[in-house]
Amino acid sequence: MAKKKEKKEEFTLEDLPGVGPATAEKLREAGYTGLMEIAVAAPSDLADVAGIGEGQAQKIIHAARKYANVGQFETGAEIYKRRKELTKLTTGSKEFDSLLGGGFETQAITELFGEFGSGKTQIVHQLAVNAQLPKEKGGLEGHVIFIDTENTFRPERIVQMAEALELDPEEVLKRIHVARAFNSHHQMLLVDKAMELAKEYPVRLLVVDSLTAHFRAEYVGRGSLAARQQLLNRHMHDLLRFADLNNAVVAVTNQVSAKPDTFYGDPTTPIGGHIVGHTATYRIYMKKSRGNKRIARLIDSPALPDGEIVLVIKTEGIRDP
Ligand code: GTP
Ligand code: MG
Repeated sequence: MAKKKEKKEEFTLEDLPGVGPATAEKLREAGYTGLMEIAVAAPSDLADVAGIGEGQAQKIIHAARKYANVGQFETGAEIYKRRKELTKLTTGSKEFDSLLGGGFETQAITELFGEFGSGKTQIVHQLAVNAQLPKEKGGLEGHVIFIDTENTFRPERIVQMAEALELDPEEVLKRIHVARAFNSHHQMLLVDKAMELAKEYPVRLLVVDSLTAHFRAEYVGRGSLAARQQLLNRHMHDLLRFADLNNAVVAVTNQVSAKPDTFYGDPTTPIGGHIVGHTATYRIYMKKSRGNKRIARLIDSPALPDGEIVLVIKTEGIRDP
């Protein structure tokens, strides 16, 4: 057993009893990358993936629970204080903002889903610029982390959008921290890195574009669905934690898969199903319309009425028609 450490964040899997580098590797491979994941695991699952006995798995889980602060309580006053800091980030379109009750909300995950070319990547580029605007202009005066899984981040596009808002494009680009994620595992690790970066810079927006592409490509077939959903679930909760701790907007994009079962009249269903859907605070369905017009529809929001608006994608960025 490792020596006592001051902060729980410093514990790693290798600090758990009987977990050496080989076991730790097996656990991480299976998605048990942190103490919290192990703390809430079933002993039989852990025993399976690590190739250990259930008794040993029990011991590991027990230790993880001790270190991971499972079920830590917060007072209502603490939650209230945090909720009071909640703000909104403008989209660049007044109509879109009002659909969302003022814009993309901090301490929440907003999912943009829709077919190719529906404007998801354009919107997250716009958010990356707007997040740097002063608060009175609907911004967050913050830095941005952009996790790019499909190599669709375009600095040239940021420059156009920044110039349209009379911001210094060089300065804007300097505050956007971009990382390519090469696979789903890497993508999940980048959220940990984002957490570290957010200690150095005031990061107020985290983008994951696309949330699901790697997962979809890597976990194919019925047999791997459970594993995929488990990892996506973890990923979403890591993102939500990032949003909470940094009072940040988290915006993720999601593709749709063509399926015979229709979704709001379109032959498309968001990837990741109920796992992504239940963890995202807001879901926006994006649909192509004529020319540069796009339809954004708010789906199943707990606090806002469902509705849809039309926006346009211009050289300057996202605007009202
Ligand atoms: P996938 O990632 O393929 O699922 O699509 P997406 O939803 O991310 O689509 P994206 O945001 O990339 O939208 C692409 C569309 O945005 C293009 O078809 C153009 O209509 C528009 N667009 C992209 N760049 C520009 C630009 O510089 N100026 C203008 N006016 N429109 C642009
Ligand atoms: Mg895209």
